[in-house]
Amino acid sequence: MAISKTNVMKGGNTMTPEQLIDLAKEAMTHAYVPYSGYKVGAALLCADGTVYQGCNIENAAYGPTNCAERTAIFKAVYDGHRDFAAIAVCGGKDGVITGAFPPCGVCRQVMREFCRDDFWVYIVGPEDTYETLTLAQLLPHSFQAEKHMA
Ligand code: THU
Repeated sequence: MAISKTNVMKGGNTMTPEQLIDLAKEAMTHAYVPYSGYKVGAALLCADGTVYQGCNIENAAYGPTNCAERTAIFKAVYDGHRDFAAIAVCGGKDGVITGAFPPCGVCRQVMREFCRDDFWVYIVGPEDTYETLTLAQLLPHSFQAEKHMA
């Protein structure tokens, strides 16, 4: 599937980065963050145009906390999706986006499991700004089952 920065889906359904970002911002309102107060939202675009939203879900034991990106990916995989085009991510204390915060290392490795090098990651900043990076840029030299466990 061909994708570009301005129109992540070619043919069939189309969704712009801005539309995906709006869904990530909405997802942020679902965050369960009694410990950090740091709300994160994600919107994952599947190759067929389906969008899954995710939020971070914290835990009193801290370690079991699930990030927004993984919530979205796991929801999609549970429903049978394995082909993904892009994800938008936003976060901030009390839901106020003060900077563009990139996904954590664990989430990058989970993306690696299902997404190709050209998977787009839109990292939302204040106001209407966002940065675009590919998974290859976010996680170079990564451990990949198809390369290293063959
Ligand atoms: N968090 C995410 O949801 N995604 C990330 O990529 C980084 C961190 C969450 C986990 C925790 O609930 C809060 O942000 C503070 O670390």
